[in-house]
Order: sequence, then structure tokens, then C-alpha cells
Amino acid sequence: MHALTALFHALDTQPEIPVETASRILFLRAQAHPGLEAFKDRLTCEQTWKPHADALVESGQRHTRQAEGKYDLILLLPDRQRDSILSDFARAHELLAEGGMLVTALHNDWGAKRMEQHLAEVAGEVQTLSKHHSRVFWATQPASWKTEVLEQWKAGGAMRRVLDGRFWSQPGLFNWDRIDEGSALLTEHLPHTIGGNVADLGASWGYLSDHLLRKCPNIRTLDMYEADARALECARRNTGLIPVPVRPRILWKDVTQGVGTASYDHVVMNPPFHDGRDADPTLGLKFITVAAQALRTTGDLWLVANKHLPYENLLREAFEHISLIAETRSFKVIHGVKPTLVTRQVRRKSRR
Ligand SMILES: C[S@@+](CC[C@H](N)C(=O)[O-])C[C@H]1O[C@@H](n2cnc3c(N)ncnc32)[C@H](O)[C@@H]1O
Repeated sequence: MHALTALFHALDTQPEIPVETASRILFLRAQAHPGLEAFKDRLTCEQTWKPHADALVESGQRHTRQAEGKYDLILLLPDRQRDSILSDFARAHELLAEGGMLVTALHNDWGAKRMEQHLAEVAGEVQTLSKHHSRVFWATQPASWKTEVLEQWKAGGAMRRVLDGRFWSQPGLFNWDRIDEGSALLTEHLPHTIGGNVADLGASWGYLSDHLLRKCPNIRTLDMYEADARALECARRNTGLIPVPVRPRILWKDVTQGVGTASYDHVVMNPPFHDGRDADPTLGLKFITVAAQALRTTGDLWLVANKHLPYENLLREAFEHISLIAETRSFKVIHGVKPTLVTRQVRRKSRR
């Protein structure tokens, strides 16, 4: 939020940023802001993070997952991963028209100063403004930028094989080039009897789904939900290589908005606990609520979480039984079984 506010402060106060005159403006990793209204008819928004894309739509802006063409002015709000930021610079360079300007805003804690130096290495002169714990920096004359370095940056952010070629992934995704310790612990404890209709919430590039498809032959359908569109193609490739008849549905979705009611026999997840820059345990709580709603009355939830996260009270509310299946120094695996219809009816009667 700080970087977004700082970006619009720069647009309002820096006359050399041609926001009034640019005929085509692109906002990469765009987020909703009232200031966008002023140049809406000249604006293309690109966003791969579903909650931000939904917020753009709600605010009346259209968006695309992959912009094309050339732009006189590009605004960029990168995410926090270094290779991903550098590859955003390279991508912006490809999309800039001759004489166009790139304006980037980044929170100081995300290495803004270092990233500004990187941009200066390829672009020469860079202008800066510091505001709202962020830096806004801009550069022009893309024709003279150092293309060899930009090519390296582009390659550095590209989708590629990781973990000895076992999986496709991309910088910027959660634990993009390693298996999460918590997810590994969860897969050690998932029973191979998991079957029927299954959902993987926050599936990323598909580590948990890969395990489910390989080890659980009774699965009939598998739905993989993920907010980060960059993960979808990786997930498609990773699960596409598995020699089983089930083809998962890979869904670009903000899980906190719900994934249906009473449709799954099993939900498996390693829920997120960060929203952008900040730790946010309420995200995991929302995932648990959504999982409970999405499960059939006979369904169950398999969850791994960092040990300190306070999920147990809600789990006890939402599930008939919860059991701690495994625990390490850092993680816990929890199994939640939904109340059956019978137990609900018995409870209702005993309350009368
Ligand atoms: C802790 S990671 C787990 C990833 C993967 N399941 C694994 O085990 O390696 C949580 C995932 O949830 C995704 N995520 C975060 N917020 C989300 C939301 N609101 N809706 C859907 N997915 C979300 C993140 O992008 C991330 O891929």
C-alpha cells in the first residue's frame, strides 16, 4: 500500500512524469487506486495476483494477465523477490515505446535502494523520490539501455525446471525452487486412501497435488486453486507429466472468496500467512472457513501450518474432531473431520 501511495504522489507532484500527455499508459502489477480514473481511457492494467485483479474490476478498471504492444509510460509496482523485480524491469523495457518512461515504486524493506541502483546500471540516469517508506524511481530513453544485462534479467525471472528437473517453477512463486518443509511433512502423513473429489487450496506450482495424483489412486477429480497466475502454467506442466487418468482443474481464484459449498470429500492445504509484506494469520483462518464450507458433511481437511499459528480454536468450531497428526520444531499437521449429519441432528435434538 505504501509503495502504491508513493507512486501516485510522484504522478501528482513530478511534472516530468508524462501522465497528462502519454497516449498509452501501462500499469504492471497494477493495483486499484482512485487516481487511475484520471487516465482510465489511456490505461492498460496487467495483474497476475487474483485479489488485486478482482479489486481492479471492482473499482471499474479492466485488466489483462499479459499486456502487449508499446507504451509511452509504464508504471510498475514489483513484488518482493529480487529476480522477479529484475525481470519486471526487462519486461518493461520490451514494452516501452521509443522515448517512453518507466516509473517504479518499491517499499524500502523490499530493497528499493538496491533495485534503483540496478535500474541505473542499465538505464544510466534515474530520478528518485522518497515517500511513505518507499522509493519511486524513473528512467527514460529505453533505446540506450544495456540489452545484454536486460536479457540476463529476463532469463533470471523465467519459468524453468527446478529440483533436479523434477518440477517447473518460476521466481516470485512461494518457495519457487525448493520444497517447503511444512508441505513435505504434510505429504509424509497424507493417507493414500484419499479419494473422490479433492481440492488443493493455495496450490502454487503443485507440490501437494503432485503427491496426491501419484499416491492416491482413488482420486476422481482434483481442483487446484491458486491466486498467483504465474503458478498456473507451472502447475499445468507439473501435473500434466503424471501418468494418471485424472486431469486436475487449475483455477485462478482468490480462495478467501469461497470455493463452493459441500462439494469436496477432502481438502488439502498449506495455507498462506502473508498478505504482501505483512504477516497475516487471518488469511489461514479464512482458508479454514472456506475449506469447512467446501467439504461434504463426511469430508475431511488435511492441513499443515507453522506451529505458532493460532488455528485450533476455529478448527474446533468448524470440525467435529481435530487431531494433531504430527509436530516438528516448526510445523504441525492437523486433520479435521467435519460433523456428520447424524451428529448434527443429535446435537440439535439434545439442545431442544
Ligand atoms: C504456503 S504456500 C503453499 C503452496 C503449495 N501448496 C505448497 O505446499 O508448496 C500458500 C499458497 O497460497 C497462495 N495464496 C495466497 N493467498 C491466496 C488466496 N487468497 N487465494 C488463493 N491462493 C492464495 C500463495 O500464492 C501460495 O502459493
